Amino acid sequence: MDAETAHRAGEMTMRAPLVWSAASIGNHANAPELRTDIAGLTLPTPLGMAAGFDKECRVIRSLLSMGFGFATAGTVTLAPRPGNPPPRVIRQPERFAILNALGFPGPGLDLAEERIARMRKAKSRMFISIAGTIEDEIIECHRRLQPHGAAIELNISSPNTSGLRVFHEPGRLRSLIEALARQKSVPLFVKLQPWPRDDGRRRDAIRLAETSISSGADGLIVANTHPVEHEGLSSMHRGGLSGAPLTDHTARMVAEIKAAIGGDGDVIACGGIFTAEDLWHMLSLGASAAQLYTAFIYEGPGLPGRINRGLLRLMRRAGVTNVRDIRGLPPV
Ligand SMILES: Cc1cc2nc3c(=O)[nH]c(=O)nc-3n(C[C@H](O)[C@H](O)[C@H](O)COP(=O)(O)O)c2cc1C
Repeated sequence: MDAETAHRAGEMTMRAPLVWSAASIGNHANAPELRTDIAGLTLPTPLGMAAGFDKECRVIRSLLSMGFGFATAGTVTLAPRPGNPPPRVIRQPERFAILNALGFPGPGLDLAEERIARMRKAKSRMFISIAGTIEDEIIECHRRLQPHGAAIELNISSPNTSGLRVFHEPGRLRSLIEALARQKSVPLFVKLQPWPRDDGRRRDAIRLAETSISSGADGLIVANTHPVEHEGLSSMHRGGLSGAPLTDHTARMVAEIKAAIGGDGDVIACGGIFTAEDLWHMLSLGASAAQLYTAFIYEGPGLPGRINRGLLRLMRRAGVTNVRDIRGLPPV
């Protein structure tokens, strides 16, 4: 079975939220030690499902039942989009990675809004990811979707949609975020593109992070998939890498962003998080929460519960009573 068919089959089984809510016992998502605050939101655990898993905006309740503290719907775009032609997802199980060049297939704003509005019970823990290539599209998605979610993620960083890069120009990003901030009623996060060690792009990324916060965003998601080339991908042989090869980069970028923005905004770590130790590490570097996607594909629906349980065990061993107080290396 190819990767997309496997994803669709998995997603179908998750469309029955009651089944998963019965399975929620033992996911440790209600342990008081794991409760955390981010941008004024209180979440039961700092572990979330990243954008792109529930592009169709149908399975947020099931994800929450599995033990995620929050979960992201979308990325939603104004018009429905077929995405790039297949093959556009390649699994690399030998290194726990995925390459994707999906390019935002999705139902479009009207249908996404209808489905998201129906998931009312998940509202306080649902993030909604939006994107577009011109300001008006994004402003419209933001205006119509924010009443239905706990927070909005602005995706300016998918490597598979070249038009998003216009918002890597700080002046253009600033005016977009200022426009969103004027109509904002829930926290706004900006999802950054990753940056390599020690070169000009690092400075550019940090500048975008600072611009986002100073123009009204509440936090940053660090980061999206890493741009790579692979001849098995249809769309110009280019796509985004996710999973285990990203873990160390994510830690480095979280530390760099935290050093740049200090207490002015919250950071959500995203990229290569597989274990409770990974989560501990990101929190100890200053992230307020973390998101994962690829680990869930390899480890399955028991993963969020296992990470919650593992984090609790580490905290108890270290004598830490709240995730916000996690510092240093995890206890061995
Ligand atoms: C198949 C696939 C589709 C994705 N689609 C989106 C998307 O629509 N929007 C987005 O912001 N990120 C998307 N991502 C990126 C993830 O949200 C996340 O940033 C990235 O995969 C790194 O986290 P991970 O290593 O835990 O997977 C996608 C990732 C994958 C693997």
